[in-house]
This record gives sequence, C-alpha cells and structure tokens, in this order.
Amino acid sequence: MDFSNGKSLVFFLNTGSDFDLLNAEIQKASQVFILADENTAVHCVTSLQPFIDCTYHLITWKVGEPNKTMDAAMHVWAELTKHEADRNVLLINVGGGVIGDIGGFAAGCYKRGIRYIQLPTSLLAMVDSSVGGKTGVDFNGFKNHIGLFNSPSHVFVHLPFLKTLPPRELLSGFAEVVKHYLIADKKAFLELATPSFELKKVNWLASVQKSIAIKSKIVEEDYLETNARKSLNFGHTLGHAIESFYLDNELNRFLHGEAIAVGMVAESYLSYHFGLISEKELSVITSCLRKLFPLQPLPETDFKSIISLVAQDKKNSAGQNRFTLLKGIGNYSVNHSVEEYLMQEALRYFNLQIV
Ligand SMILES: NC(=O)c1ccc[n+]([C@@H]2O[C@H](COP(=O)([O-])OP(=O)(O)OC[C@H]3O[C@@H](n4cnc5c(N)ncnc54)[C@H](O)[C@@H]3O)[C@@H](O)[C@H]2O)c1
Repeated sequence: MDFSNGKSLVFFLNTGSDFDLLNAEIQKASQVFILADENTAVHCVTSLQPFIDCTYHLITWKVGEPNKTMDAAMHVWAELTKHEADRNVLLINVGGGVIGDIGGFAAGCYKRGIRYIQLPTSLLAMVDSSVGGKTGVDFNGFKNHIGLFNSPSHVFVHLPFLKTLPPRELLSGFAEVVKHYLIADKKAFLELATPSFELKKVNWLASVQKSIAIKSKIVEEDYLETNARKSLNFGHTLGHAIESFYLDNELNRFLHGEAIAVGMVAESYLSYHFGLISEKELSVITSCLRKLFPLQPLPETDFKSIISLVAQDKKNSAGQNRFTLLKGIGNYSVNHSVEEYLMQEALRYFNLQIV
C-alpha cells in the first residue's frame, strides 16, 4: 500500500458483507483504537459495534472546532501510550472532519506513524476531509496551522450515519459539494442552480460518489498541492479567515461549510473582478449560494480583522496572499494575489447580495 501519494482506497459500507474488508484490516492490527467525539461515540460507534469483529479501545474527545487543538492530539498519544500501543496498532477515526483531522495527525506522529482508517460520519467528512491526507490541528487561533500530509490506508463511507447528523451540519457539508462542482463540474453545478432544486431530493449516494471522485482525481494529480490541488482552496482563503475570526465567538460561530459558503460568494466576486467569470455567471453563483445557505451579513467593522488573518494563510508565498479563483463555472485559476481594498470590496459585495 502506498501511503505517500494520497491514494487512499475508498469503499462504501452498505451491507453486512461490505464490512468484511474493514474487518480484514482490523485483523492485521496488534490492537485497535477508535477515536470519536462525544456525539459520534454515541450515534455512530454504537451502531458499528455489531459489524466490527474485535475488541477495541475507545478514545473520546470533546466536540467541535474549538477542540481541534494540540491537546486533542496529546490526548490520543496519551491513550495510545497508556495501552502500550506499538507501531502495528490501527487507529479508526469515527467522526466528522474535526476527528478525522486530529486522528490523522496524531497517527502520523505517534512512534513516527501508525496505520489509520477514516470512517467519516458527517457529510463534510465523507465528501471532503477524509480524502486526500491533509491532517492537523488549529493553533493559536489559526486554522490547521500544525499538521501533516498523511493519508489513511482506507476510507469507509457508511451513508446511514447521515440520518443522525443535525440538518445544519448536513448543509455545512453540502458547501464542499458545491465547491467541487464549481471548480470541476459545470453541469452538476447548474443542476443545483435550477429553481426546482431542493436539498431534500438529493441522491446522497450519487452526490457523495461524485464529490469523492472529483477530489480523489485532483489529489492523485497533485498530492502536495503545487498546482491542481490548490483548486480545492476556492472559497477557503476568506472562508478560513472568517471561520478563524469567529471561532471564539459563541454567538456568531460559523460552521466550516458556512464560512466557506461566504468565502465562495466573495471569491466569485474577485473572479469577476479579474475578468475570469462573467457578470451573468457571478449572478448565477451568488443566487444559488444564497438560496442554499442561510447567509447573514458580516459586520463591516470586522472586515479589517478578518482580512488580517489572510496573512497567515498556508497558500501565501513570498509575503503575498495566493487566492484560487474560478475561471468560468467548472474551472479554476490559481495563485492570484489580492490587495486588501479588493478583499474589502468582495466582503461588501457579499453583504449587499444577501440583504
Ligand atoms: N483535511 C481536510 O482535507 C479537510 C477538508 C475540509 C474540512 N476539513 C476540516 O473539517 C472540519 C469540519 O468538519 P465537520 O463539518 O465534519 O465538523 P465536525 O467534525 O465538528 O462535525 C460536525 C458536528 O456533527 C457531529 N456529528 C458528526 N457526525 C455525526 C453523526 N453521524 N450523527 C450525529 N452527529 C454527528 C459532530 O459531533 C459535530 O458536532 C474543520 O475542522 C475543517 O477544517 C478538513
């Protein structure tokens, strides 16, 4: 198995016999550890029990982005150490993107690396974060500041987990589906943009498969993000800055996908400004995102602080920010440097569109 180029094997767990492969992986391990958060331990680990053929150590961690910290990784390392885990143990991450990112990072560092599997439980984790090997934790208020490229050996997608996912979380995950379509599949995006489209009519199996296929192809082409993989950052430069800025704000916290939805509107405006999409395309994208996501205006007094966080973006190079923008719907253009006044203009455009 090659762990170095992001080619994780992705399987869908539908029937009891689909779990045979997971169990075969489990049998190879000296011990099995399951990492879950306080919600997924109850809703998801319990429902897996009848299908999993082993005894395991359950490691639980606190819920949500504010807990995606070094403390989380240290907790995993402490539990592995307590149970004398050797390098042949298997860590299975049963959770959303937060648990997947923590577990993948912790697995990559423990004794210089142990095998791990992603068992994503949120839509976002199924369509995006469990694929591609980016792992890490937030640090000093900066998103994903400490981390590793470290691919799981396998990703097992079990769609019934979505039944207990809160609707707001489902919608947040859908933002990454929309992003995949915007950068790589015009036809699929235009279907979302039709007036008759409704989230409740979505065929989840088809959507998750399509999104994973888009992301996997990009990651296989450019695992270490020198070019094509930057396309996945569309909406994420301003989106991450917004998510980070409101991370400590209990009243106004954005879920990851909600912040990315705002970022996609603002960065579509930038794409229009640079002549990469037409006014008509900007309008189609904006109306579609406005229809799908319950977006709220951002206080203009927060703009400066949000924009200052772009200086910490991991894509920056030689002191310059590097935005990924759209080049028409279904295509992208990377490495755009954007001046502060334009970022202000893009956020102002977002506010004007959603009132
Ligand atoms: N590594 C990557 O490539 C990548 C890509 C995109 C996003 N991310 C990261 O992913 C994170 C966001 O992931 P997320 O949206 O899954 O957040 P999350 O992990 O916090 O999960 C969302 C919420 O849903 C709950 N939950 C998850 N599955 C459930 C289920 N089946 N039933 C009931 N409750 C459930 C969780 O307990 C949590 O409260 C962010 O930290 C983001 O940076 C990483």
